[in-house]
Amino acid sequence: MKVDDTIDTFNSLVKRRGFIWGPSPEIYGGLAGFYSYGPAGMTLKNNILSLFRRELRYFGFGEVECPTIMPEIVWSASGHLDRFIDPVLKCKKCSTLYRVDKFLQENLPNLMIDGLSFNEMEELIKKHELTCPKCDTNFSKIEEYNLMLKTSVGNNVTAYLRPETATTTYLLFNRLDQDARKQYPIRVFQYGKAYRNEISPRQGVLRMRAFDQFELQMFISKHQEMEFDDYEEIKNNKLPLLDWKLQENGIDIPNSLSLSEAISNKILKKPAYAYCLYIGYYLTKILGIPEKSIRFRQHSLNERAHYADDAWDLEIKTRQFGWVEICGIHDRTDYDLRRHAEYSKQNFEISMGSDPNIKEVPQVLEIAFGIDRIVYTLLETAFNVEEGRIVLKLHPTLSPNTVAVFPLVRNKEKIRSLALKVHRELLKNRVGSFFDAAGSIGKRYRRQDELGTKWCITIDYESLDDNTVTIRERDSMNQIRIGISDLPQTIQNKKIE
Ligand code: GLY
Repeated sequence: MKVDDTIDTFNSLVKRRGFIWGPSPEIYGGLAGFYSYGPAGMTLKNNILSLFRRELRYFGFGEVECPTIMPEIVWSASGHLDRFIDPVLKCKKCSTLYRVDKFLQENLPNLMIDGLSFNEMEELIKKHELTCPKCDTNFSKIEEYNLMLKTSVGNNVTAYLRPETATTTYLLFNRLDQDARKQYPIRVFQYGKAYRNEISPRQGVLRMRAFDQFELQMFISKHQEMEFDDYEEIKNNKLPLLDWKLQENGIDIPNSLSLSEAISNKILKKPAYAYCLYIGYYLTKILGIPEKSIRFRQHSLNERAHYADDAWDLEIKTRQFGWVEICGIHDRTDYDLRRHAEYSKQNFEISMGSDPNIKEVPQVLEIAFGIDRIVYTLLETAFNVEEGRIVLKLHPTLSPNTVAVFPLVRNKEKIRSLALKVHRELLKNRVGSFFDAAGSIGKRYRRQDELGTKWCITIDYESLDDNTVTIRERDSMNQIRIGISDLPQTIQNKKIE
């Protein structure tokens, strides 16, 4: 199969096997940028979340949850009202909106668009006589388009759906500080929906208007950013780093550097920030994403969000969309807390060191994952077509079903009831088992391969005599016989191998 054929097969698999459906609502034609998860997709997403939550406990992060709607003042303070904007072009005839930088990059692929002013972009449109691709009409002047979704609450109180979880976490700072009992840095994360009114979302679940974020925040002192104990343990890890200087020189292959080398070469400024890159990398690696598909790309000054002093994207290489950001690591300095202190008239200066007289507004370091992008890139990297067989090579901790149980034949009551007994026993032991008696045994195997189920257990005639079953491994398709009573323990042990 050619690569393009496998992409079509992949896209159809994602729908056919109940991972992701949309644009939603499908029965009414769909609204761009909105998607739904089917049972397989939702289980995969929940398994990712469980893994992240378990690991973050190890790294000392607590979890919070905040409202997804916040009053206007919050977004004035955070800077999103003024600066969370994209430059857009509007067609004078059909009113279609285009994001200018993306539009220019697509039409003029050999030019560097990043960093151009509005005037410079308008000059390019004139010079190259670019018009609306839909109706060939000229554009009006470049306008600013705010990406937040506006609503009103109660008696016309203006509010916005949050464009990130991060800001809502910062609003808890006083409470978190009390709760932490002076144990700095304060480490918290928040998982939940965020909303962005994307201009013309085209890349499926990669650019959703309602999407899931999983954002980690560290509130840390200036001193700790440079003298960070946890850094010592991880500083020898090598990460694939594509800094801005390399990109300026037209290089897109990252350097494999240890974090201590990156600090001494001044590619990274702060050990605590290097630690954040490491956490992003660690959480990505344990999902089973291969090393060769991961890179960190530093933002140019112009690409950075308004709150960031340094920003690196953790990107995954995909066949369909090239390098895709699944996580942004931001040095937000004291920007957010200062702004919220000013707008709320609260005092966020605290003493974070041994001298109680020295007070400071904490710095914030952020590791921001997009969960839907993880689901997509994980599915794409796990997807294989081997001699016509479609197989999702997901880690068994993540796959929607850990095992599937089949009676070899459907119409032999004794085989069917033993198979059901095995299935129920596995469920009782909290092994994610799926029972399937429909269709030929070959088709049942294929279905589970497509869902990423690592083991298929078949109950046959021999099972009735000696209480053994066959267990087939997904990738090698090898089968072994094993006693029924050993099954739950064997699966649990293999799952964490
Ligand atoms: N909180 C960072 C982001 O939304 O990208």
